[in-house]
Amino acid sequence: MCDGCPVKLLPSILTADFGCLRQEIAAAEAAGVNGLHLDVMDGRFVPNITFGAALVAHVRRWTALPLDVHLMVEAPLRMVPEFADTGAQSITVHLEACPDAYRVLDTIRRAGCRAGLALNPGTPCALIIDLLPQIDILLLMSVPPGFGGAPFIPASLDKIRRTRELLQTFPAYTPLLQVDGGIGTTNVRAVADAGAQAAVAGSSVYNRKGSVTDNVQALRRALLA
Ligand code: DX5
Ligand code: ZN
Repeated sequence: MCDGCPVKLLPSILTADFGCLRQEIAAAEAAGVNGLHLDVMDGRFVPNITFGAALVAHVRRWTALPLDVHLMVEAPLRMVPEFADTGAQSITVHLEACPDAYRVLDTIRRAGCRAGLALNPGTPCALIIDLLPQIDILLLMSVPPGFGGAPFIPASLDKIRRTRELLQTFPAYTPLLQVDGGIGTTNVRAVADAGAQAAVAGSSVYNRKGSVTDNVQALRRALLA
């Protein structure tokens, strides 16, 4: 595990080499990451299509890491059962895709998973106040959703701080504050200092510049610097 790290590190496999995905995941596990972030996209909620529950079920058999499924899909309610059946620990849906987010989050929990709610960069964090009793993970997007390798939106740091302050006014609820998109060695410490408790890192872990091990260690060093 990332002992001593102020935030949990969860690589997204979106930019991993799918020709040797099992090995890529094993490398992340050996590097001591805290979980795996699996980006499911339907080509409708976001302009990209990735993978479905079948792949998540394979990943479940390959690793003991907690699986953090990020559903970037329209009408996610109908997909909850199949992703819960994969053995994923958490399922995160977008507020923007859920007219009845309370029902979706409740369904995720009843299926035995931690319930995550994601906000796109332009969605105000205040919109989650009345859903707090149902949220285990609050995911702030620091890039427009849909692709790996997008640049971090600098204003995200202020949104993380504001969200942290908002959560402190409702101490009865303690969702994990997770940030996703464009996170690397140059900004992961600022993301942590702003109040994030977990960071998703895709292309800063899976890239052609360095090994998974070296990239995870570089992130850890940046966090502890
Ligand atoms: C973007 C996804 C992110 C992305 C992270 O829509 O939700 O999880 O894969 O990858 P990087 O770290 O490369 O932005
Ligand atoms: Zn994601």
